[in-house]
Amino acid sequence: MNEFSVSAISPSNIAIVKYWGKHGNQLPNNPSVSLTLSRCHTDTRIAVKRNSDSNYKLHFLFEGKESPKFEEKIKKYLVENQQYFGFLKGLDLEIDSSNSFPHSSGIASSAASMSALALCLLKIEKIVNQQDTPVDMRKASFLSRLASGSAARSVFPVCALWGKTPSVSDSSDEYAVPLADMTHPVFKTYHDSIMIVSNKEKSVSSRVGHSLMNDHPLAEKRYATARENTERLLKVLQNADLQEFINIAESEALQLHDLMATSNPPYRLMEPNTLKIIDVVREFRHDTGFPLCFTLDAGPNVHLLYPDEHNAKVKDFINENLLQYCHDNQYIDDIVQRNTNL
Ligand code: PMV
Repeated sequence: MNEFSVSAISPSNIAIVKYWGKHGNQLPNNPSVSLTLSRCHTDTRIAVKRNSDSNYKLHFLFEGKESPKFEEKIKKYLVENQQYFGFLKGLDLEIDSSNSFPHSSGIASSAASMSALALCLLKIEKIVNQQDTPVDMRKASFLSRLASGSAARSVFPVCALWGKTPSVSDSSDEYAVPLADMTHPVFKTYHDSIMIVSNKEKSVSSRVGHSLMNDHPLAEKRYATARENTERLLKVLQNADLQEFINIAESEALQLHDLMATSNPPYRLMEPNTLKIIDVVREFRHDTGFPLCFTLDAGPNVHLLYPDEHNAKVKDFINENLLQYCHDNQYIDDIVQRNTNL
């Protein structure tokens, strides 16, 4: 075959126990656990042509437009990990990627884009090597991780664990493992309503953020807490103790922001409206008893997590009480991904 194309859709994910701090070639300093999302995803297509060169050529388009920054990132990834990409020799790759979430949402999900890329590359490998077998998802997770740590978790639906932890024997720092089979059905109904407090790009990239942990005074304490929280969360995922879920999710989110606030140099990534939303959510939970909680990424936007059972009431609450704190009244209504896209 001299010309062919491959494609993959891969979602974003939201970490409940956060990965923050790494070493070596994208190895995590603590395990992390996330819910896989479905509506926030990247769709990547690669048109492949054989060339007469011994090397490969790559051209990247984001939503049909040149994106030199991202093209460089992909080239760097392929060069740094070339031992896994020998099959690309003699190929021209025309990569076209697009996101399902709005341009102006301030959400730049490397988890979705990098896992979609890794899945496409594995599909190319299958075609080049004439293998008629399904993509090995562990390898997909491994290659995704090398591009962006959190991307390792995006290739599995529902819920994934990345990083070695005692109670999951096949857990690894090298790749994520799926947790769907041991996860209580209630979590498969979870919504993640993402309140867009700001649509600006993050003021600190996660690459810089991770490096701030290298000589952070609280680093060792943080890693120990994250390890404990991972084990606590693994129990919660089975027994559906939603109060314990809330405690872990909110404490992890606030800790991530505390770590940034106590870094050198220090960063404040929450906006005044982030705190407003957090306070109003906690008040609503107190008044209604609904298991609605928040988590945060390394930015000001607030992810609201809740089971589908309370969807209608929570949506009323969002519309009446939270939209005023969102940029252009914007929020993204996502849900946990139940099935794989492959
Ligand atoms: O995968 P990275 O390098 O973009 O780091 C992600 C870090 C957090 O999103 C803040 C936490 C996580 O575990 O996803």
